[in-house]
Amino acid sequence: MKKGILQPGQTIGIVGGGQLGRMAIREARRSGYRTLVFTDEPPGSPAGQVADGEINASYFDEDARIKFIREVDVVTVEFENIPGPFLAALEEKMGVHPSRTAVEICQNREREKTWLKKNKIPCADFRVVKNVEELAVAVAELGTPCVIKTAAFGYDGKGQQKLTGGENLSAVWESLSAPRAVVEQWVDFVMEISVVCARGQDGSFVHFPPCENIHARHILDITIAPARIEPALTDEAGKLAENIAAALKYCGTLAVEMFVRRDGKLLVNELAPRPHNSGHHTINACVTNQFQQQLRTVAGLPPGDARQHTPAVMVNLLGDLWPAPDKHPDWTPVLRHPRAFLHLYGKKSARERRKMGHFTLLGETPDAALADARAIRRELGME
Ligand SMILES: Nc1ncnc2c1ncn2[C@@H]1O[C@H](COP(=O)(O)OP(=O)(O)O)[C@@H](O)[C@H]1O
Ligand SMILES: [Mg+2]
Repeated sequence: MKKGILQPGQTIGIVGGGQLGRMAIREARRSGYRTLVFTDEPPGSPAGQVADGEINASYFDEDARIKFIREVDVVTVEFENIPGPFLAALEEKMGVHPSRTAVEICQNREREKTWLKKNKIPCADFRVVKNVEELAVAVAELGTPCVIKTAAFGYDGKGQQKLTGGENLSAVWESLSAPRAVVEQWVDFVMEISVVCARGQDGSFVHFPPCENIHARHILDITIAPARIEPALTDEAGKLAENIAAALKYCGTLAVEMFVRRDGKLLVNELAPRPHNSGHHTINACVTNQFQQQLRTVAGLPPGDARQHTPAVMVNLLGDLWPAPDKHPDWTPVLRHPRAFLHLYGKKSARERRKMGHFTLLGETPDAALADARAIRRELGME
């Protein structure tokens, strides 16, 4: 085990090749750390483009894994769908933050929900189902509306279906084509919020102010930060995130998605063991951003100051906006605004629903930033 504080010049291994790795690497480079990406994507991944090196191999390729282990001093992850045995093999040789256990809990809804329940964290009532008979029982017990979600590999609404009653459950089960799923009660929420937080190897904890998240077609569309909620709810959400991070013995950046129910109660929706789309504004609006938090904690430092210095709104830019797969829209409306920041992820081909980039808008108040963001969206043809 290599211990102590990781110093510039040493190498951080990043598992995963997406935009979250890319943005973390940007921060690592600024402070002089080397980075090596391990991804099962083809060469030239969003993270690989900006890293010092990129290994493109299956997570089951032992030679590639040995090469990765030889070259890196510590490891972090930029997505959660990483086979447990791969992380276990890394953990035998060096620090992996967050741990295999934390990643495995967050990567699977069944494990995640069961863990939340066991740790008495409030979440929507749910049932685990393995066949259509169990699905029928679950729907009868939970009532409708409810939502069925595959246990593994779901994201951006993939592998989910809302059930309002009267569906042919055999057809629903067939269409999921998954061995296990979670059925959960539909939550009558007034707002979705997320708390992005960071916890160091020594247990020190900070969280960014909760953000307000607006989804469109099950994909995050707009984040408003800070969320327009009462201070008491902000405190409660922060406390909930702290309890979760502590119970997971977490090290790294963690995101906790929550529903604010109509009666004011907070319910946890899901956890992400990494920086989160709803934390991208922290790059431009906070003292220490979510990627710096990830690197600091992975390097053995306590998390940095998480204060937000300026209200912000983040707008996701999906492939739908591109006139052709390899042709950018005209970015002038974003580029010319004095408080707008355009972030593009270097993805070569735009596809419908694919996250291609985002822009962050700073403002005097969350509402002012939102008004400017909406004006830019109109000019881009997004509203
Ligand atoms: N039980 C629920 N009640 C109400 N809305 C839900 C529920 N589960 C999911 N949703 C909606 O669907 C979105 C995506 O679901 P989520 O479980 O976060 O999956 P993912 O983000 O992995 O696709 C949520 O942000 C929320 O808007
Ligand atoms: Mg989600």
